[in-house]
Amino acid sequence: MTAPHTPTFEDPLWYKDAVIYQVHIKSFFDATNDGVGDFPGLIEKLDYIAALGVNAIWLLPFYPSPRRDDGYDIADYRNVHPEYGTMADVRRFIHEAHKRDIRVITELVINHTSDQHPWFQKARAAKPGSAARDFYVWSDNDKKYDGTRIIFVDTEKSNWTWDETAQAFYWHRFFSHQPDLNFDNPKVLKEVLNIMRFWLDLGVDGLRLDAVPYLIERDGTNNENLSETHDVLKTIRAALDAHAPGRMLLAEANQWPEDAQQYFGQGDECHMSFHFPLMPRMYMAIAQEDRFPITDIMRQTPEIPELCQWAIFLRNHDELTLEMVTDSERDYLWNTYAADRRARINLGIRRRLAPLMERDRRRIELMNGLLLSMPGTPVIYYGDEIGMGDNIHLGDRDGVRTPMQWSPDRNGGFSRANPADLVLPPVMDPLYGFDAVNVEAQAADPHSLLSWMRRMLAVRKRHRAFGRGTQQFLYPGNRKVLAYLRLYPVPDGETETILCVYNLSRTAQAVELDLSAHVGRVPVDLIGGAAFPPIGQLSYLLTLPPFGFFWFILATEAALPPWHIRPSVPMPELATLVVRDGLADVLAPSARHVLESEALPAYLMRRRWFASKDHAIKSARLAQTDKIPGRSFDILLTEIEVAVGARTERYLLPLGISWDGETNAALPQQLALARIRQTRRMGYLTDAFAVDAFPLGLIRALRARTVVPVQDGEIRCLPTSHLDAVELPDNPEIQRLSAEQSNSSLIVGKKIIMKIIRRVMQGVNPEVEMVRHLTAHGYATPRPCWARSPVSAMTAASTA
Ligand code: GLC
Repeated sequence: MTAPHTPTFEDPLWYKDAVIYQVHIKSFFDATNDGVGDFPGLIEKLDYIAALGVNAIWLLPFYPSPRRDDGYDIADYRNVHPEYGTMADVRRFIHEAHKRDIRVITELVINHTSDQHPWFQKARAAKPGSAARDFYVWSDNDKKYDGTRIIFVDTEKSNWTWDETAQAFYWHRFFSHQPDLNFDNPKVLKEVLNIMRFWLDLGVDGLRLDAVPYLIERDGTNNENLSETHDVLKTIRAALDAHAPGRMLLAEANQWPEDAQQYFGQGDECHMSFHFPLMPRMYMAIAQEDRFPITDIMRQTPEIPELCQWAIFLRNHDELTLEMVTDSERDYLWNTYAADRRARINLGIRRRLAPLMERDRRRIELMNGLLLSMPGTPVIYYGDEIGMGDNIHLGDRDGVRTPMQWSPDRNGGFSRANPADLVLPPVMDPLYGFDAVNVEAQAADPHSLLSWMRRMLAVRKRHRAFGRGTQQFLYPGNRKVLAYLRLYPVPDGETETILCVYNLSRTAQAVELDLSAHVGRVPVDLIGGAAFPPIGQLSYLLTLPPFGFFWFILATEAALPPWHIRPSVPMPELATLVVRDGLADVLAPSARHVLESEALPAYLMRRRWFASKDHAIKSARLAQTDKIPGRSFDILLTEIEVAVGARTERYLLPLGISWDGETNAALPQQLALARIRQTRRMGYLTDAFAVDAFPLGLIRALRARTVVPVQDGEIRCLPTSHLDAVELPDNPEIQRLSAEQSNSSLIVGKKIIMKIIRRVMQGVNPEVEMVRHLTAHGYATPRPCWARSPVSAMTAASTA
């Protein structure tokens, strides 16, 4: 269910799993050093784009053009602007992109041409009513279609412009130098289809249909979204499918959801359409610290045909358009994000993402998190992945189209040309200039926005639910938190379920989520891999830092993703005991107090061999502590007396020190009771079971039949005769069988098994007694060779 998913290049639904990177050729990279970005430059930077983790590139218009609308005023549909390269370069670019599994999306700008296009030059000179004249929309007066809004309100006063040559007005929805083509003339559509085939034949994978709602005009309407326009699109789609199945059409229809949705038709118009209304509402939600703008617009968003897909975006080459919000919402957004009036243009804001978020990394990440997880295919605008700034002093929308900032070198590494020759000046202010914000620096910094984006895109790529899943909102009481599920049924019958939770506010928030439909599932953080507590019957509580967000996969216990990280067993916070002379110092009153009152009760509860874990420990003390001859005398043979209920129990816990750096093993640390410091030296006071000196010292004592006088008697080391026959090297290998059984066993030099019997009772331990007896009668089973009197607590047996 969570196996990495690599989209194949053949998949006809590739656009559903795509992440699109939007590039302006002229501003990306100038390989010819004439000051203008070009195709050879873009090819050089393809590896950068691939490494970002996107798999489609959308190119802004690169055709011959007077560039009075930055290329959307096309003068020749079948060629490339000479400053950007040659057609051979374009072919090479498509080939190189495909080699890297990157799809290419170009612009099919069909609503209008430049007034420099030969069609228009011919039309204005042609007779009224002639076929050539009819390529465009003409009128004797400028009052016709007066129910039509003006889009570029800052520049244009009318959708009609008088043409001296034609002695007539021509219709244009955008700039007056961009006459609208007349789609009532079948020859226009025929030309458009030929142009489309031309680019499909070159290998282009998708076409963005610029400004499609305005193709057809009819009296008495607002001339947007007319059914005749949809008929044109159906014809285009049919021609595309017939000529090159598997290619994609992307509608630019800046419309309300119900109208934008129409551009999918019944699955027989565009494959994709931009979700224009969602975009400003993401900005609204974070400004108002309220999820409502997002949940509200998504509720108003109709279902779309199965094979269709929204394109979602935060920013693009145009102003942040506020056409699809109410007047009061627009005022709010203008006041919040464009207090400086120079940042406003038409009905929008000409700023990039980072300045809109005031360079607040948390907010930039939050917005990108939304972009990458809302239903649809995300479109990333070049430069936003490094947090590029803008320049609101440049004309029109040029301020968000400045050169890509590659490095702190001249012109931001964009071009070696004389700065005065650059197509646009790079941003140079102290906060966003190429000195401060550039690819080179960020690529070398794991904490940069660029590195973060790369990681997020890699995570997103693993889960088809992001591109293809349905969305289900949760409505927790706290409206500052936006939460939704993305659900995608995968072939094995499971449903990939991703939970996305966003804190839209500048303060920390807690939220209770109703995840009762997913009881028993384990939320695993998609980004870090940590498994969170399983979902239970009660509401699921999460806390989020300011502008924080989570993406979780809701995994079943049985199918936890292989990359998840198990919750770590919390390491106890150990006290540090200072020893001046040696281990015995831990018995000094203050250290002893720490051990008995703080360390031991918690320690015992975690030990497998402690029998009374179901009782509260009333007290624990070091009842008997005898120094025994270890190799370095660093062993304390200790008995712990524990009061539980009405009784006391005794356990053997030999203590030793494991000094830091002397062993890499984790066991001394896991079995530690306290940290130990002797001047600069640090170590652990730990169960001597984990310290090699203990078994080795004990074997030596057995061989020497040592008798150690202790407080209330003596310890006798009583080997059987078999021990003498066992030969061990100086530093035998010591294997611990298991630290956490009722007793603890280890094997020395593959010859001796030593077992620490933990529970201490009066009399001879039956296991010791039995094994000793059997050995005496000749059984070749492990033979006990050491025991403590009067209480038997330890045996050592030779395997020889
Ligand atoms: C689209 C483009 C915009 C252009 C307009 C007119 O909206 O995105 O940049 O100015 O069409 O062609």
